[in-house]
Amino acid sequence: MPQALRVILASPRGFCAGVERAIEIVERALEIYGPPVYVRHEIVHNKHVVETLRNKGAVFVEELTEIPEGAMTVFSAHGVPQAVVKEAGRRALPVIDATCPLVSKVHREGQNLVGKGREVIMIGHEGHPEVEGTRGQIPGGVHLVSRVEDVERLDVRDPTLVGYVTQTTLSVDDTRDVIEALKKRFPGIKGPGAKDICYATQNRQMAVRRLAEQVDLLLVVGARNSSNSNRLAEIGTTMGVPSFLIDDASMVQDDWFRGVSVVGVTAGASAPERLVRDLVARIGHVAPAQTEELGGIEEHMQFKLPRVLTDAMRERG
Ligand code: F3S
Repeated sequence: MPQALRVILASPRGFCAGVERAIEIVERALEIYGPPVYVRHEIVHNKHVVETLRNKGAVFVEELTEIPEGAMTVFSAHGVPQAVVKEAGRRALPVIDATCPLVSKVHREGQNLVGKGREVIMIGHEGHPEVEGTRGQIPGGVHLVSRVEDVERLDVRDPTLVGYVTQTTLSVDDTRDVIEALKKRFPGIKGPGAKDICYATQNRQMAVRRLAEQVDLLLVVGARNSSNSNRLAEIGTTMGVPSFLIDDASMVQDDWFRGVSVVGVTAGASAPERLVRDLVARIGHVAPAQTEELGGIEEHMQFKLPRVLTDAMRERG
C-alpha cells in the first residue's frame, strides 16, 4: 500500500443544471401536492438520488399504467416519446415535465428537420431512455447510429435530404468522428455539429481529460446506467489510466491503490457531491491522503422550474 496519497478532484464534476432542476421538481411537487408523486423512470440515473426521493414519498414506475387515476406524475430528465405524453393526456394525469431543457432542444431540432422534409439520423446509444424519448418525439422516427461503422449501413430515402441530432451525453471525440463520416456520406446533411452534446457533458469530459494526465488511478462516481458517467471512465481508460466507475465508496477495493500515489476523482452529472465526500473519506482509510481540487471551468447554468410549480409556489406564498 502507498505511504501517502494525493487525491485530485476534477472540476466541474457532479450535478448539472438539468439534474438539479429535475430533483427540485420532484421535491417541490411533494411539498405542494403531498405524497405520493409518481415519477416515470428514475428521475435521474442515480440510485442514491432515487432512494432519497422515495423516502420523501416519490413512487418510481416504468409505465404510466402503473399510475393510479388522477395521481401527480413527473416525467424524468431524459424526456419521453410523444406516445407517452398522449397516453398521459388520455388518462387525464396531471403531469409535470422534468425533461432537461437541453434534451427538449434536441427534440425541437429533430422536429424542425422533419418540417423541412429531411429524414433524421440520431447519434446515440440504443436503449437509453433519452434516445427512446427523442426518437418518439420526431415524427417518422429516426435512424439510430452509434459508431462510424453504422453510417455505411444507413438506408435513407433521399441522401440529399437528411439531417442529424445527437444524444446530449455522448463522447465529444467519438461523436466528432461519426459526424465526419455522416458528412462524407451525405455532403448536404444538416445538423448542429457537436453542439447537442450538452455543456455539462462537454465540461466534465474536458476536466477528466486534464485530470487523467496527472493521476495513476481514476475513480468516477456514477451509475452503470448513467451515459455521461460511463463516458468519463472511458476517457480515463483510453488515456491509459486504470479507471473505475463506482456507484459509491462501498465499491472501492484496496488493491486498486497498489503502486498508486495520485488518485483522480470525478463524478457524473447525476451523482450527488456527498458521494464524492464519502469516497474521499474511504480513500483516507486506504492510506493518509491529501485532497486538492483541479481548477476548471466555472458553471453558472440554471434552468427555470416549470410554470405550474412556480405559480403554485407563489400562491402558497
Ligand atoms: Fe441536461 Fe446535460 Fe444534465 S442534457 S440533464 S444538462 S447532462
